This record gives sequence, C-alpha cells and structure tokens, in this order.
Amino acid sequence: MLQLTYISSAVGPCAESDVDAILKTARRNNVILGVTGLLLFDGRRFLQTLEGETASVNAAYQRIRNDPRHRAIVQLSSKETKARAFGDWAMAAQCISAGPGVVAQVDALTETVADPNLRETFRGFARVRAAALTASSA
Ligand SMILES: Cc1cc2nc3c(=O)[nH]c(=O)nc-3n(C[C@H](O)[C@H](O)[C@H](O)COP(=O)(O)O)c2cc1C
Repeated sequence: MLQLTYISSAVGPCAESDVDAILKTARRNNVILGVTGLLLFDGRRFLQTLEGETASVNAAYQRIRNDPRHRAIVQLSSKETKARAFGDWAMAAQCISAGPGVVAQVDALTETVADPNLRETFRGFARVRAAALTASSA
C-alpha cells in the first residue's frame, strides 16, 4: 500500500464551493479506486494525503497533478505502509478558513494517524494557517 502526501497552491480564487466540487469528484473516483485520504485547504494551499494500492494512488496522483486548478505541486512524502491512516474516508476534508474550531477538528481527523511526521504535517498546517487568519482579522 502506498501513502503519498503533497502540497500545492490554488490557481486563482478558490472558494469553498470549488473545494466542494473537487471533493465530489474525488470521493466518487476514490471509492472506485479504493483510495482514502485527507485534504486540507487554507484558502491558498492544498495539503493532501492519498493512500491505497500503489497503482491506484499513482493513477489518482497523475490526474491530480494535471489539474489546472492548482500549481506548484510538491510531493512531501511517498512511502509503503501496511495500514491506512485515513481508512474511514474516501476523502476527508477541512477548510482552514472555516473558523476557530478548525484546529480541534484537524486534530480529530488526524487522531488515527500513527506516523508522527504525517500527523504533525497536517496539524502544523492547520495551526499556522489558523493563527495567520486570526492575526489578519484582528
Ligand atoms: C487539490 C485537488 C485534490 C484532488 N483530489 C482528488 C482525489 O483525491 N481523487 C480524485 O479522483 N480526484 C481528485 N481531484 C480531481 C482531479 O484532479 C480530477 O479533476 C478528477 O480526478 C477527474 O475526474 P473525472 O475524470 O471523473 O471528472 C483533485 C483535484 C484537486 C485540485
């Protein structure tokens, strides 16, 4: 089983409705491919983990990389794992702009992640962006 994580930047203004549209497609395809994962969006950047059979993850990542809705896609990690970290979701997702409860929600979403590096990648992303949003609206 392959677990792949990348970060990217949204192209143009990307609203929550755009993310909803991405998620709808993602969930439909991921169910068919047996791919699970987590997607965070902070209004500017995406952070996503894809996990599943190697061929399925590679196929999904290939499509995602060619998607013009984001750019500057940087793979943060790619590794073989025995167990899924996000097995319950075809694609769980969270918008960091969603408000003050978001850090706790991301903590909950990453509770099942055994790998401390991966857990901190998501939790750190949520904390830094939530803090930046609070600072800019103060
Ligand atoms: C940030 C981001 C994350 C995405 N995540 C997924 C995903 O997990 N699975 C997926 O199939 N498509 C995902 N997509 C959409 C794909 O890039 C592509 O549009 C889609 O797979 C095409 O599916 P379709 O041919 O069924 O319309 C994502 C797109 C973006 C911009």
